[in-house]
Amino acid sequence: MNPDPLKEILPAARAEVAKVIIGQTAVVDQCLIVIVTGQHALVEGVPGVAKTLLVRTLAHVLGVDFARIQFTPDLMPADITGTNVFNLQKNEFTLIRGPIFTSFLLADEINRAPAKTQSALLQAMQERLVTIDRDTHPLPPNFTVFATQNPIEYEGTYPLPEAQKDRFMLKIVMSAPGRDEEYTLAQRTLGRESPEATLASGAVRPVVSAADLQALREQLLGLTLREELIGYAVDLIRATRRHESVLVGAGPRATQALLLSSRAAAALAGRDFVTPDDIKSMCEPVLAHRLILRPEFEIEGLSVSEVIQSLVQQMAVPR
Ligand SMILES: Nc1ncnc2c1ncn2[C@@H]1O[C@H](COP(=O)(O)OP(=O)(O)OP(=O)(O)O)[C@@H](O)[C@H]1O
Ligand SMILES: [Mg+2]
Repeated sequence: MNPDPLKEILPAARAEVAKVIIGQTAVVDQCLIVIVTGQHALVEGVPGVAKTLLVRTLAHVLGVDFARIQFTPDLMPADITGTNVFNLQKNEFTLIRGPIFTSFLLADEINRAPAKTQSALLQAMQERLVTIDRDTHPLPPNFTVFATQNPIEYEGTYPLPEAQKDRFMLKIVMSAPGRDEEYTLAQRTLGRESPEATLASGAVRPVVSAADLQALREQLLGLTLREELIGYAVDLIRATRRHESVLVGAGPRATQALLLSSRAAAALAGRDFVTPDDIKSMCEPVLAHRLILRPEFEIEGLSVSEVIQSLVQQMAVPR
């Protein structure tokens, strides 16, 4: 019998990832939410917090192919999409596909490449199509981008324009591990069970097929999301546009992101209905990259997180 995707696949995927990634459970859940909703994520974290290892592990557990592109100032759009090369023997052009033709793409340090190259990626994200010399090519159905951004704004980087950040469903922040986790990492590193060795050893099973992922998406459509809660999410997003410290609030893509991610969060919690807490828990990752504060409040040291918290606190929760 086929397993119930909601009740079996998601917990199994979590458990397999946990064999490699120590702690970071909220981050792993947010990645799974992005994957099951067929969206893309911005991933932020200082070097060495296992951003690359996490995406590689997720690709392995979900049984899809994985590629990584290091963005640099001299990276050209064709370096990621591919080019038509003239084949002298055949006397014709043949397409050399770029690294973008994969299911899970880790776009490392996206803010180090100029706008032209960034937009080649963003267009592919939006349309799941790549255009090379007037021909369009479809990307795999599970094409998901995890784009990392360095939280420290170095000189010579190209911060993503606001309009482009909006295309990422969530901003996933990976912070340094707690002491217990770091201790476990330290111990494992000294033995045979380092995170990399565990991933390479075959101890981590792929638990999902492309068909399972499709079934899971179908099942999400059947979850209950009460009308009052849809209204609650809509009002939360609209409130960002009126908040006194906010210069630019969130657009309608944020409303879509909040509802779709909350529904997936309910599924991850093993429920077939969405609660107000699901919606509250998704406000931070949905809004973190979408609000611009008024400069005078930023100078005072107010953070986007604090604004999001105050918005959530002020909004009456439907009964
Ligand atoms: N929570 C964790 N669980 C397992 N391994 C971890 C964890 N945090 C750090 N590591 C270890 O840290 C090392 C660095 O991981 P990784 O290369 O994925 O980091 P990164 O965030 O991609 O860094 P960079 O920004 O430099 O690319 C890995 O070798 C991994 O073993
Ligand atoms: Mg890395």
